[in-house]
Amino acid sequence: MNPPQSSHLDVIELARSVYARAAAMDIDALESMFGDEVVMELPFAPDGWTNLYEGKVAVLDFQRRAAQSFASFTMTVDRVLASNPLTAVVEARSVGTTIKGAPYENRYCTILEFDDDGLVARWTEYYDPIAVSAAFPRSWFADVATPDDIASFSASDGIVTLRAWSRDDASFIVDASVDPAIQRYSLSHDHRGIPGPPPSSDEAEATIDQFAANWQASTTTGVLTSVGFAITEAEGGNVVGQCGIDHWSKDGVAQIGYWLAPDARGHGYATRAVVLLTNWLFERGATRVFLTIVAGNDASVAVARRAGFVHEGTMRAHALWHGQPCDVMWFAALADEWAFATPRDPGERQR
Ligand SMILES: CC(C)(COP(=O)(O)OP(=O)(O)OC[C@H]1O[C@@H](n2cnc3c(N)ncnc32)[C@H](O)[C@@H]1OP(=O)(O)O)[C@@H](O)C(=O)NCCC(=O)NCCS
Repeated sequence: MNPPQSSHLDVIELARSVYARAAAMDIDALESMFGDEVVMELPFAPDGWTNLYEGKVAVLDFQRRAAQSFASFTMTVDRVLASNPLTAVVEARSVGTTIKGAPYENRYCTILEFDDDGLVARWTEYYDPIAVSAAFPRSWFADVATPDDIASFSASDGIVTLRAWSRDDASFIVDASVDPAIQRYSLSHDHRGIPGPPPSSDEAEATIDQFAANWQASTTTGVLTSVGFAITEAEGGNVVGQCGIDHWSKDGVAQIGYWLAPDARGHGYATRAVVLLTNWLFERGATRVFLTIVAGNDASVAVARRAGFVHEGTMRAHALWHGQPCDVMWFAALADEWAFATPRDPGERQR
């Protein structure tokens, strides 16, 4: 894009051009119009919703989710004023229908600030929050900041706390990995369904380092792959198992998994960990959290059901165990079906 001249006409044209892409929900075109450090502020965002997105990845992710939320959407720009050579004020209206069929109408007053290269540096948008809350359930845009550093991750219900693994935990992972049920249902297998040897201490440390690296990578890619958290007893901090995210896509779909050391089973810890991690994901914009369970793993099926996940179906012969095909069950929870209360008794969530 050509740098703007110091004239009102250019900034007005730039603003119209950006708004035309936004109206068309053309996220790829918007990407080329945003500076890397772009900030989007929505001062009138409804209570509990994120009102500040910092950096291109976060802003585009929000725009993408917004675009995916509408079945139809038309934006009309009423006028554009230049307040200085690099700042324009846009007055616009929209009318549309959400993908859930709710009608949506709003009016916007947006201050667009450009950098010297003509890229959007700041987007401050004022709109009617009542129109937004009426059309969208909270979970669609509810979004709590995700810490940049995995070490800052924490989620707790007072009984169980999820936290990042530290290298000091490596021996716990090594010991737990000799458990036949963890080898069978949680560790990776070769192409014939035969588990490898349990990890050494060095390998467990490398896995912990990899979790931190994967987390760090997600802050720029917007996709989180393979991050495990330690499940600990909130009182005393004793480590009891792992609950983690296998994959969390840009589309807001997350797959999770879990295991407990044998002597930590039978206390409801796994169910609590699943509820905590699922809440955490929904609060950050995930729309669907799912897990897969090898048919016959009744303890895990009980966890999924107690946590409030719904059995959606079973894929026949979807996995191998020692060369024998086995069925795999899918369980999922959807953001707009999920009750956000942390259960006192995990049994309360069973459906
Ligand atoms: C799957 C696995 C995590 C389930 O562990 P779990 O201890 O049975 O599950 P929870 O921690 O949620 O505990 C629930 C059990 O504790 C009991 N419990 C006892 N006190 C409790 C309390 N205060 N609150 C809740 N539940 C309690 C529950 O009744 C339930 O037992 P039940 O199933 O016999 O009724 C465990 O078997 C495991 O690690 N397996 C190997 C790896 C694996 O399969 N991972 C899943 C891959 S999909």
